[in-house]
Amino acid sequence: MASIDNLRLIGISGTNKVMTGELSRLARRAVQGIRVPTPKKQGLGALVYPFDTQLAEVAVSYHRTCSRVLWDIFESSARRLEPLYEELVGDVADDDRGWLWDGASISIRPRNVQSFAAGERQIVGTVKNALIDGAAKRGMTINVDAREADIEIAVRIHDGVLSVSVDLAGGPMHQRGYRLEAGDAPLRENLAAVLLMLSRYDSRSDVLIDPMAGSGTIAIEAALMARAESLWSEDRQPAYLRLPAFSHCNLRTEALFGDAKPVILASDIDARAVGFMRANAECAGVSEDLCIVHADLRDLSPRVIAKNLGDQATPDQKGLILSNPPYGERLHGGELELYDEMGKWCESFPGYRAAFLMANAEFEETFGGSPRIRKPISNGSLRAYFCLYDL
Ligand SMILES: C[S@@+](CC[C@H](N)C(=O)[O-])C[C@H]1O[C@@H](n2cnc3c(N)ncnc32)[C@H](O)[C@@H]1O
Repeated sequence: MASIDNLRLIGISGTNKVMTGELSRLARRAVQGIRVPTPKKQGLGALVYPFDTQLAEVAVSYHRTCSRVLWDIFESSARRLEPLYEELVGDVADDDRGWLWDGASISIRPRNVQSFAAGERQIVGTVKNALIDGAAKRGMTINVDAREADIEIAVRIHDGVLSVSVDLAGGPMHQRGYRLEAGDAPLRENLAAVLLMLSRYDSRSDVLIDPMAGSGTIAIEAALMARAESLWSEDRQPAYLRLPAFSHCNLRTEALFGDAKPVILASDIDARAVGFMRANAECAGVSEDLCIVHADLRDLSPRVIAKNLGDQATPDQKGLILSNPPYGERLHGGELELYDEMGKWCESFPGYRAAFLMANAEFEETFGGSPRIRKPISNGSLRAYFCLYDL
């Protein structure tokens, strides 16, 4: 085992560039004079920076496109449990970086450890014992709490190397806490943020329209992202604030671009989904930013949109249409008709950009035109793709 000191952002496969861009913009705004180094990319959905508490604090507090922020602390090329235990006990006993304290509770989350010559439970047990015994050598008593631990430890194998990391948020960051109701096919919150970044959504110049908004994830993320709102609140605090290494940090609840005034219209044909969207927007604190409409896309003409937005939009307003329409691997005919209607509907918005997350191979042909950007991106277990059109 060896000590390492990395800040790792984990996100959706294919989003390294988007995650890098977002972190450097946030860090430049949040920390005067900070120099954000170029990260190493590990695979298609992970960025590795040299560890820095300021950068870590910004990432956990504000980064919307990643799903986890980890502090990588040890790694080992051991192939068996005994040497792994021996190495890890020694490393923990010698380590004073302030990620552990007397009385702390830990939980271990294994990921991708199938290549190790032992089962997952044995690996978890070995790491747990090594952390407890290593801490004891430093005079600290720590205990295991699988449900509500102070520190979540991530154990992962990549390219034959096992690494041990502290999860600085304390869990998956895409669970923002505002989604009270999810609807039928909700988008992961960080995937919605990725789509906004890929579409280059700019709240200063774009009106945003999601005409098939479901429970409102894209619209809500857009409003929160425009102001770079904190992901946390007094009632929901990230794990890193408990670590001695971050004892000089306070909870960050202030928005980094607090004066942004996003103009967003979100609509859905389903009254139940519209109800969910209203409740979620309220919980996220963005009700004032969203104009929520209950309508069939086909009835949502530029005139209807302008009427709903009132003086928030200018008559020659341009913007972004961004949505994830219904799709499935099996066609039942209805979807194709809808995609055809969407193509026709988009013709009423010349000068706009339109972007969609799709998982239906027949979408492009049925929608018509050619996308300026086409990018494969996974949506949970579905292989989806993102298409951006200039209308
Ligand atoms: C995949 S879901 C969108 C999920 C959403 N992004 C979320 O995070 O909850 C697709 C949505 O399209 C809506 N929809 C289907 N046909 C529609 C139409 N003709 N006009 C407006 N909305 C429609 C459905 O009611 C459904 O809520």
